[in-house]
Amino acid sequence: MRPLFQSFPELESAVANAGFAHLPTPVELHSFSGKAIYVKRDDLTHSSYGGNKVRKLELILPQAQRAGARRVVTFGATGTHHGLATAVFCRQIGLQCEVLLFDQPVTEAVQDNIRMLAAQGAELKHCGSLANTLRRFYLHPGRLQRRNYFLFAGGSNVLGVLAFINAALELKQQVDAGACEPPERIYCPASSNATLAGLTLGIALAGLPTQVIGVRVGPAKVGPFDSCTVKSVRALMQKTVRWLQRQGAEWTVPVPSPHVSDDWYGDGYGHQYAAAEAAAELFSETTELPLDPTYTAKCFAAVLADRSDGPIMYWHTLNSMPLAPLAEGFNSQQLPDSLIDTL
Ligand SMILES: Cc1ncc(COP(=O)(O)O)c(C=O)c1O
Repeated sequence: MRPLFQSFPELESAVANAGFAHLPTPVELHSFSGKAIYVKRDDLTHSSYGGNKVRKLELILPQAQRAGARRVVTFGATGTHHGLATAVFCRQIGLQCEVLLFDQPVTEAVQDNIRMLAAQGAELKHCGSLANTLRRFYLHPGRLQRRNYFLFAGGSNVLGVLAFINAALELKQQVDAGACEPPERIYCPASSNATLAGLTLGIALAGLPTQVIGVRVGPAKVGPFDSCTVKSVRALMQKTVRWLQRQGAEWTVPVPSPHVSDDWYGDGYGHQYAAAEAAAELFSETTELPLDPTYTAKCFAAVLADRSDGPIMYWHTLNSMPLAPLAEGFNSQQLPDSLIDTL
């Protein structure tokens, strides 16, 4: 049983769990140029496609089914891992998937992502700018139909946060079992916020002496709205705690203040820079695992810059399973013309 349900038995009827994530994920200790760092291997959450989204989706997708949905509509950048994970697991559990896409700098990884999205059966709508994507998401013609479940980018709703409260409780069990020391700091990438919000809440609930630092890799604001700031993360945490209380769960600790580091964003979402490239190189030399330029390389650059003596943990949120099988059967006729042009 997931530790979330051990802590909050009242959730068993309120929260469905598809149970497809392979948990707990291992914790490993690696030496990076002589610096010892724990790596929490969330790349291994599933053998078809791992990474942090699997934890969220195993709670979100069965909830969509319970609500009577046949199709999940979500959005992300053209390189969206969230969109791909949603397409993969929708297909596995028999839901249709529609992904609205906005542009990001085109790289080989982004092109591969578009091919995989299509091959996984997602219906793709290319919307150009983020503003236009948001407009089409909120004004979607199927908005009021029960058969559609609308999932915000990154899967960062209350269920996504619960998945990462569970992840922190899982880590506490690993600490108790002697798999690792209690970390002084945990670093994770932060973009749509549920990973950071859930880990921060879960660590407080677990009573670990750990500061969770979200390394911001997405824009702080979208128009006038906070999208990745202390304020937006706190709002998501508070919304989750209020939701838990409405289910009859007793929340016993003060809601902590989240930590967001703005120092590693660089020139923008998906834009690379030298320190992140060097961090990715060191990481893959040591672990034989790749980092991506958009999320994990920037986060790991922040980890390497940490000068404290205490145990540090890097929460590795990127899939490491081979991608080629996910692109099998790709046919460019599955794409709108404007996306064919990006390939
Ligand atoms: C590999 C990876 N790490 C981290 C994140 C950020 O997680 P969150 O959206 O929960 O802030 C994402 C989001 O897409 C991601 O793809």
